[in-house]
Amino acid sequence: MDAILEFLGRIPWWLWIIVVLVVIAIRDIFQRKHTIVRNFPIVGHFRYFLEGIGPELRQYLVANNREELPFNRIERGWVYASSKNENNYEGFGTDRDIYAHQHIFVNNAMLPFKIEKDHPNAIDKTFLPCAKVMGAYNKRRKPYRPASIINVSAMSFGSLSAKAIESLNKGIKIAHAYHNTGEGGLSPYHSNGGDVVFHFGTGYFGVRSDDGNFSMDKMKKLVKDNPFIRAIEVKLSQGAKPGKGGVLPGEKITQEIADIRGVEVGKTVLSPPNHKAFSTIPEMVNFIEAIAEETGLPVGIKAAIGKLGQWEELADIMLETGKGPDFITVDGGEGGTGAAPPSFADHVSLPWVYGFGDLYKLFKDKGLTERIVFIGSGKLGFPAKAAMAFAMGADCINVAREAMMSIGCIQAQVCDTNRCPTGIATQSKWLQRGIDITLKSERLAQYFKTFRKELIEIAHAAGYEHPCQFTMDDIDVNVDDHNLSEDLSRTYHYHKTKVPFISMQHLKDCEYLGGQLNSN
Ligand SMILES: Cc1cc2nc3c(=O)[nH]c(=O)nc-3n(C[C@H](O)[C@H](O)[C@H](O)COP(=O)(O)O)c2cc1C
Repeated sequence: MDAILEFLGRIPWWLWIIVVLVVIAIRDIFQRKHTIVRNFPIVGHFRYFLEGIGPELRQYLVANNREELPFNRIERGWVYASSKNENNYEGFGTDRDIYAHQHIFVNNAMLPFKIEKDHPNAIDKTFLPCAKVMGAYNKRRKPYRPASIINVSAMSFGSLSAKAIESLNKGIKIAHAYHNTGEGGLSPYHSNGGDVVFHFGTGYFGVRSDDGNFSMDKMKKLVKDNPFIRAIEVKLSQGAKPGKGGVLPGEKITQEIADIRGVEVGKTVLSPPNHKAFSTIPEMVNFIEAIAEETGLPVGIKAAIGKLGQWEELADIMLETGKGPDFITVDGGEGGTGAAPPSFADHVSLPWVYGFGDLYKLFKDKGLTERIVFIGSGKLGFPAKAAMAFAMGADCINVAREAMMSIGCIQAQVCDTNRCPTGIATQSKWLQRGIDITLKSERLAQYFKTFRKELIEIAHAAGYEHPCQFTMDDIDVNVDDHNLSEDLSRTYHYHKTKVPFISMQHLKDCEYLGGQLNSN
């Protein structure tokens, strides 16, 4: 034995390296999985290595500030700085090509809106409730005025970690906003007392009968037991994957997730593309009315927009019957997801501006816009883009990925792998351990407050008290080279209906104001 060790010890280090390389080369030549490695033993591995670290290299070193998608470095930096209450200004002027196609401009007034001493925004620069009340037109028993025009969009416990959900939920409470549960049901992490919009899709998680159908009894009990649920959203589709149901793999279904979703532990659950509770538009309206009647809450629908035929049918039924959804959430094709096939994420459904414009115009032509609270989602979590959305007819904004970024998401784009390095989109306890819930909830709240403050300031610059007063003529968009910019009404061919607005004080005094701000 000593002789062998002595012999091995006498082999120089460089010979060891050669031996290891020879072994790798032999393995490369005889394996059949990778042609490149088989044809180019050893050096072929560099290709896979560089491909693996390419996204990080581009993100940190190569890509310029405005280059990346879904969110470029400037956008991410703005959310990070805003959520930390750091300096989110830029010096020396814009680095954007303001002549570029689709660039938007807000037409400022000669004299901005003046805030008097006792104005609600003189007291709180971030106070910005929704100008409309959900469920007011349909006389629901418990109407709801969101106390914040920016809110957390649908993301389930399951696609996000428990710690991420709890951070968002505690954050919206501080910011007086609402938290949409996403499709995974209501979890304890959603239940810290802030306003919640309960959302369900075709899986009916949390309100699911044993045979996988919708259970009205469970819905009623859920709402009764959790009075912080202020509205219900029925998901028809989302921008990243319209017409596709979700898959929750068995290995991700822990006892806790199984209990919350009302499914079996370890058994893969497929949510189908279609609802079992309704198959036609009249049936859907009856379904909405039944939930609203049983729970007393406003009920809305969420969808990505493509063809308009069935929306027209819905509008006609609403006109004829006086019934229908209290709010409509329009998700843009640029919307995010936990996981979707690229062919769907890239190509199915319209981008937000086109989809929302088409839908709003349809409802406006039928005189229905006053009845509905319009919510927009799809990269709208930036004040100037939100101003454009309000000018087009949106009443509220939902944000998903921007909210994730405010609590530390670095856009690693691995939400579908359970390996999210920031612990946000993973069920790994080890990866979640880095999240400090108190700190992250403050960050979400600060992002929302900064967003509202800047949006109010943009409205003031345009001479308005509230962004609901923006009209299509207030925002221009670059359309092409010959006709460098057109106002929104000429670009999208409609004028938005004037939103009835008395004053910010009137909104503050509203008996239906949410966000625990109601002093009545
Ligand atoms: C991780 C993740 C999970 C999501 N889960 C849902 C969901 O359960 N139901 C749904 O309707 N939309 C879901 N969405 C879509 C978002 O709610 C939102 O509509 C979309 O991402 C656009 O908003 P954003 O651009 O601010 O991210 C999810 C998005 C992400 C990023």
